[in-house]
Amino acid sequence: MRDKRRLAARAILALAGVELASQCAAAASPLSYLTSSGPKADSTLGLTWGLLIISIVVVVAMSALVLWAVFRSRAPGESSAPSMPSHEPSSFNIFGWGLATTILILVGCVAWTMVTLAAIDQPAKTPALTIEVTGNQWWWQVRYLSDEPAKTFVTANEIHVPVGEPVRVKLRSDDVIHSFWIPALAGKTDLIPGQVNTTWLEARKAGTYIGTCAEYCGLQHAHMGIRVVAEAADKFEAWRDNQLKAPAPATSDDLKVGAAAFSRRCAACHTVLGTTAGGILGPNLSHLMTRETLAAGEIPNDEGDLAGWIADPQQIKPGTQMPKIELTGDELQAITTYLISLK
Ligand code: CUA
Repeated sequence: MRDKRRLAARAILALAGVELASQCAAAASPLSYLTSSGPKADSTLGLTWGLLIISIVVVVAMSALVLWAVFRSRAPGESSAPSMPSHEPSSFNIFGWGLATTILILVGCVAWTMVTLAAIDQPAKTPALTIEVTGNQWWWQVRYLSDEPAKTFVTANEIHVPVGEPVRVKLRSDDVIHSFWIPALAGKTDLIPGQVNTTWLEARKAGTYIGTCAEYCGLQHAHMGIRVVAEAADKFEAWRDNQLKAPAPATSDDLKVGAAAFSRRCAACHTVLGTTAGGILGPNLSHLMTRETLAAGEIPNDEGDLAGWIADPQQIKPGTQMPKIELTGDELQAITTYLISLK
């Protein structure tokens, strides 16, 4: 009786340990898939734990059976040489039960997976917001769609969503296969050139959720981060209204010099609303300073890092499509000053 209690206590301690470890992992690693912050990730989280526990039980049971077969005591006089498998009814029963159990567990796992996939296919209510995310080597273009053309806008590497609302995400690629993955909100969905895949996500509470490209896509695959900022409806509306507008025009002399240098050196690839800069090869910079990071999560978005990035992107992210442009010190300063005014 005491042994049983001790065993139960140990099992509870082990489970508490697993829970604690998973919480520590989630805190230490923003890409942890062992916590969930939205209804879509809830179902897959249950499946993840279920399949993990079933796999552990199977491995432990199989190991125990192998050890039992190796070390079982032999009857007196029994030969130690390996003998041919017996075909007596009792040994058939062992094989029959083993086969039946295996098939049952595997079919059960497949069924659970199919039920989960069906459950997360569509959100509980129709999404009011649709976003188109396009994968590029190695950054994400984010386009907010609307039936009214005046209400569409483009940003990059950072998605803002209202809390508690499902958001539909259409996924495209302009070059190679990428994969969109925000572990706490939604499992992976591939972005495939020439086709549009659709997923959805919903955040239960406000916060920033980190994601990444989950399909090898070239040299900087590991540096293709994306983040989802979930915020209260009024904050989201304010953010969206600001994104729809052109940034304040350059008024001071410094900003005018910077805007001119930007349009000369950078406008072939980047857009800034309300100016002649209309390039679409690189991220839209209209409201650059509302974003938390630069270069798809690679560096913080502040004046020093921004200047370093413009001066030599290849140093920070080798292979990136943004070339190192030979700028004079004055040009670099002017362009940086102009860019940090884009809010
Ligand atoms: Cu994009 Cu990996």
